Amino acid sequence: MEVLAPRGTRDILPDEVGVWRRIEEEARDLLESFGFSEIRTPLFEHTELFVRGIGEATDIVEKEMYTFSDKGGRSLTLRPEGTAPVARAYVEHRMFSFGRVQKLYYIGPMFRYERPQFGRYRQHWQIGGEVLGSDSPSVDAELIFLSSQILKRLGMKDMEIGISSIGCSSCRRDFKTALREYLSRNKQALCGTCIERMERNIMRVLDCKEEGCKAVLQGAPSMLEYLCDDCSRHFEGVRKRLSIMGVDHFIDGHLVRGLDYYTRTVFEISYRIREGKIALVGGGRYDSLIEMLGGPPTPAAGFAMGVDRVVLALGEMRGKDERPSVFVAAVGEGLFDVAFRIAEGIRNGITGISVIIGDEREPLKKQLREASRWGAKLSVIIGPDELRDGSVSIKDMETGDQEKVAMDMVLDRIRRKAKGDEV
Ligand code: HAM
Repeated sequence: MEVLAPRGTRDILPDEVGVWRRIEEEARDLLESFGFSEIRTPLFEHTELFVRGIGEATDIVEKEMYTFSDKGGRSLTLRPEGTAPVARAYVEHRMFSFGRVQKLYYIGPMFRYERPQFGRYRQHWQIGGEVLGSDSPSVDAELIFLSSQILKRLGMKDMEIGISSIGCSSCRRDFKTALREYLSRNKQALCGTCIERMERNIMRVLDCKEEGCKAVLQGAPSMLEYLCDDCSRHFEGVRKRLSIMGVDHFIDGHLVRGLDYYTRTVFEISYRIREGKIALVGGGRYDSLIEMLGGPPTPAAGFAMGVDRVVLALGEMRGKDERPSVFVAAVGEGLFDVAFRIAEGIRNGITGISVIIGDEREPLKKQLREASRWGAKLSVIIGPDELRDGSVSIKDMETGDQEKVAMDMVLDRIRRKAKGDEV
């Protein structure tokens, strides 16, 4: 029987890889232009890292982790996200003693056992950026600006940027009390899980997708009304900087994130496509995480962009690898050596080009058909005539024009034609 890719995973076929690479390249370029350096952490970590970091009573930890025991009996988990691993590496390598703010970025797959649906996979890719060691509202604003800028560079318009603040532990205490009072009054309309969540982790109720709970939450108190003076000032600082940067955004008082480590600023960038609204970027501040993982108190903030979803949003913009290609068609057995030498000459002499050699045992017509299938811009033809007078023929595959060129002029002609300098 055929073996298929596991549910919720998929292959990115060569046709699609071009757009993935473009997203990664734009992101790398922008992140590095903002002073970020790349970090690569393991694909699996001790389970405890995520339980402590993301929070025991979150959907990710409760239901979505790929957790297994290795042969040594350790409990390990495929990383469901990148922030906790970066924070772990920051503490492990004592990066707090490096004397300056750390700006780190990563690109890689994450694993969540979710119900697969449109834009939701069990293996998805994220591009993330984390800034560790600063509590400045400028950092939060810069992260929002930077992540929206990556999307803009890719040609996306009309993204919606929602921001909020969920305060610090002290102002959240008052909010939780108010929320508990409100939810207790409306308990009959809540789902069983939320009634349980009210005891274990009441903030998670805000994230419930059940219709009944969503209706109750419409009238729930907003965290923004409970911010203490410091958190309020910080939130205003973020907003002021966003307006200086020209970042259009709206305040989403009910914005909640699926991870427990957040403090103060939280944000999401979403996009409307035919199938509905999807979150492309999520992030925020997490001022207690480093300390929770055994490091010194260190404020930090970050974002992560879902690459699979950006690919979906870019939709029809997906493009192939744009390298011009040249097909070398030698006609006649025994001509492989000539074809090979010409192909190598082109590959080594002209950068950014791809060269495909035809099967010299096949007739010219068949080889040229193959050249079209490759989307070749030019074909270099070497037959008995050309061999006799030390030349090759160069055929423009779009116009069909063909010309004979002396062997020592081949590179020059191809360079000019393939790069479009000459019609
Ligand atoms: P998150 O919101 O869980 O945040 O994920 C970030 C982004 O990854 C989402 O906005 C979405 O685009 C994409 N994503 C998440 N789950 C899936 C999935 N199952 N399939 C496809 N795409 C998905 C985090 O992971 C935080 N670590 C972000 C962060 C960094 N906060 C601070 N620093």
